[in-house]
Amino acid sequence: MSMDQDRIDARRHAARLRARLVNAAPVAGTALVAIAATAFAGEAAPLVAPLGGAAVIAAALFWPQPSRSRTEIPAGVIDTGTGGSAPDAPTLAELADAVPEPIVLIDGAGIVVQVNRAASEAFGALPPGLMLRIRFRAPEMQGMIDALISRGEAPAIDYAERVPFERAYRVSAMRVGAGRRLFALVFRDQSEARRIDRMRADFIANASHELRTPLASISGFIETLRGPAKNDATARESFLGIMQRQTERMARLIDDLLSLSRLEMRTYVRPTTPVDLVAIVSQVAEALGQMARDAEIVFEISLPPGPVEVPGNRDELIQIFQNLIENAIKYGGEGGRVEISMEDRRASSENEVAVTIRDHGPGIAEEHIPRITERFYRVDVETSRATKGTGLGLAIVKHIVTRHDARLTIKSELGQGAAFTVHMPGTVH
Ligand SMILES: Nc1ncnc2c1ncn2[C@@H]1O[C@H](COP(=O)(O)OP(=O)(O)OP(=O)(O)O)[C@@H](O)[C@H]1O
Ligand SMILES: [Mg+2]
Repeated sequence: MSMDQDRIDARRHAARLRARLVNAAPVAGTALVAIAATAFAGEAAPLVAPLGGAAVIAAALFWPQPSRSRTEIPAGVIDTGTGGSAPDAPTLAELADAVPEPIVLIDGAGIVVQVNRAASEAFGALPPGLMLRIRFRAPEMQGMIDALISRGEAPAIDYAERVPFERAYRVSAMRVGAGRRLFALVFRDQSEARRIDRMRADFIANASHELRTPLASISGFIETLRGPAKNDATARESFLGIMQRQTERMARLIDDLLSLSRLEMRTYVRPTTPVDLVAIVSQVAEALGQMARDAEIVFEISLPPGPVEVPGNRDELIQIFQNLIENAIKYGGEGGRVEISMEDRRASSENEVAVTIRDHGPGIAEEHIPRITERFYRVDVETSRATKGTGLGLAIVKHIVTRHDARLTIKSELGQGAAFTVHMPGTVH
């Protein structure tokens, strides 16, 4: 069959299919909308929603047709989109457009019959009559199309688009209707899932590395104590001291990891109980007083005289200010003073209470600022380790801040110190 004949046949086929889609709309409409909604809500198991959507379209295509639509539709007839029994019932094509996953219908020769809107948005124009293999040249897609043409079935594949930006899809093909050579290709976007997988892998690698370092050091000291330093009392004392600090570090790291995972796991309902921020901040400053004195730092505290109540979780808010003030002491210590201030802006349009912890240390270079709230991110790993940091403090802060619908802003310039401000909403929105 010539290419032109192929195209004409495909167009006719498409027109017939459109008519069927239009007629079958009321039958499948409700189901498809439900499936689309589930897919949007992200609750369907992977592939269930798009495959379900494709199955509904497929079922609709082969639903017994009212006699009017059985008449042959001449080539080139355009879908008016007004068929079906109820005058304003959506057409199936419209419903397919509401499915977020790209769906491409091809015939037994690998020629596009119809696509939904998500497919046109993701892959550009895919007009009926186009040979699909011309648009998708990747070997895995070619293999899938070949398998569908020759065997009428193909296993799901992974397919990646690199331009205009990287996207990863799981593509499944299913036959539409029995005895027909028509296939629905459903593209399930896996990019976000891949990104999360990568983050998880990085996280585990980082956590293991952080635990392995002190563990290796402890094991080295044990060996020395059993061997060369067996009878050396002074060395033993000093090594045991180091070993104790290393185990404390591991315990701290595990506490932080647990704290992070608890924050992530717990479904969170924003607290509505008012807590007094002034009391919380003063309590944390007092608790860290000794640490500040040891580092020869003075606190300059400027808080409103009375209580300032905002909805929040007391323990979590304590964790925020503990981390921020500790950081100011550890990393901004050379400035000699740390300012702790609070501004009550609940009466203004911002409706917030802003708590700022400002130090006068070396500050943070601009390129690091967006990243320091990432897990394990440290500007200077050695300084952070020396101060027993795990690099998880600000990640925890960011988490708690987000759960409270609050914001964290960081202002800093190299050599000018750093200011971390927590903007707490004054009331629950
Ligand atoms: N006030 C500050 N001045 C300069 N650098 C800072 C300041 N606060 C944080 N940083 C940088 O941000 C990094 C991340 O801080 P974060 O609190 O997340 O981790 P950490 O303090 O190293 O460890 P942890 O808080 O778990 O003990 C720090 O290692 C440090 O490099
Ligand atoms: Mg910290």
